[in-house]
Amino acid sequence: MISKTVLVTGGAGYIGTHTVLQLLLAGFKTVVVDNFDNSSDVAIRRVKELAGEFGNNLSFHKADLRDRDALEQIFVSTKFDAVIHFAGLKAVGESVQKPLLYYNNNLNGTITLLEVMAAHGCKKLVFSSSATVYGWPKEVPCTEEFPLSAANPYGRTKLIIEEICRDVYNSEQDWKIILLRYFNPVGAHPSGYIGEDPRGIPNNLMPFVQQVAVGRRPTLTVFGNDYNTIDGTGVRDFIHVVDLAYGHIAALLKLDESNIGCEVYNLGTGKGTSVLEMVRAFEQASGKKIPLLMAGRRPGDAEIVYASTEKAERELNWKAKYGIDEMCRDQWNWASKNPYGYGSEEDSTD
Ligand code: NAD
Ligand code: WQD
Repeated sequence: MISKTVLVTGGAGYIGTHTVLQLLLAGFKTVVVDNFDNSSDVAIRRVKELAGEFGNNLSFHKADLRDRDALEQIFVSTKFDAVIHFAGLKAVGESVQKPLLYYNNNLNGTITLLEVMAAHGCKKLVFSSSATVYGWPKEVPCTEEFPLSAANPYGRTKLIIEEICRDVYNSEQDWKIILLRYFNPVGAHPSGYIGEDPRGIPNNLMPFVQQVAVGRRPTLTVFGNDYNTIDGTGVRDFIHVVDLAYGHIAALLKLDESNIGCEVYNLGTGKGTSVLEMVRAFEQASGKKIPLLMAGRRPGDAEIVYASTEKAERELNWKAKYGIDEMCRDQWNWASKNPYGYGSEEDSTD
């Protein structure tokens, strides 16, 4: 059994909660820091419960990563073997409206974290990057060597943080850093006890579909049906969030190898699924009809994006197990048990 201690920033969020649960079950002591900007303490409580006796290895600090004193205190009280850094703002549209908020939160949060880590001699990091850094790829599958670009401030924060990490490693080669580029995380833990709970109107496809299915929204607007794809709608690489969580355990194990430097890995399934195919799979899983409204393309959207998974398979010994039917089954299980996420109907902004 592993007895290492990991700091998870943003561990109360969607991907964070699923990863923290797997870390606990794998025997890691896990400390979460989150400011609840896009999450709640209910999520942390549920993770603790799901982990059973391993839940005793979870502790939590409510703090903003940019609060250097608070972060210092956390590092003074605990010696960490590694950090998994999820904390950040992630809404693409909002980042266009409020670029300074995104640069301030995502960049300053990361820089403060890296400085405090260095000061305490903790130099192993797993960072949440995104397939958004491939922009509109010229071909698919996307390999890690593809040219990178950013179509919005959110994506630019990911590009800049990737560069910061490379520079930090180049300056001090005892750092070990893994940049994970997630494709499109969906689904929920099969218990239906934790899942995605976005604030306000969802930006992403599956949270929106889920809210239509539970009756919170009347129709799904499909952004573009004139793409050069199987049915005209955009194609993405949807990945079950539980598979993604396991990818982080694989990355942590990789960090224990000598001289890995600063490495980047795609976490996807390698399969492309269109928006309409995903909607049909969800209708099957839920037995609910999702009314559609066909609309124009969403600015900044790419036509087809899916991952090359070879590098992660080869070097992390990790491969996604679940397909879209399981993703939709588990998403519906979570949605039907928690139609208003972690809150109640009264808390919702509908
Ligand atoms: P999320 O919003 O559910 O989780 C992020 C968490 O970070 C939230 O709990 C939020 O309260 C916290 N947070 C934000 N700023 C903070 C700060 N300054 N200090 C402390 N806590 C802070 O998002 P998620 O979907 O779980 O994403 C996790 C990470 O993965 C993010 O960095 C995101 O950009 C990245 N990512 C997500 C996706 C996706 O589609 N979900 C895809 C690619 C990459
Ligand atoms: C998928 C497809 C939409 C909503 C985004 C970020 C990326 C990463 C994952 C964080 C597209 C279509 C969507 C809707 C629709 N996040 N769609 N109606 O755009 O691939 O990636 O989330 O890093 O950075 O950019 O995901 O779920 O928003 O869209 O038709 O209401 O669904 O046009 O084709 P995307 P998405």
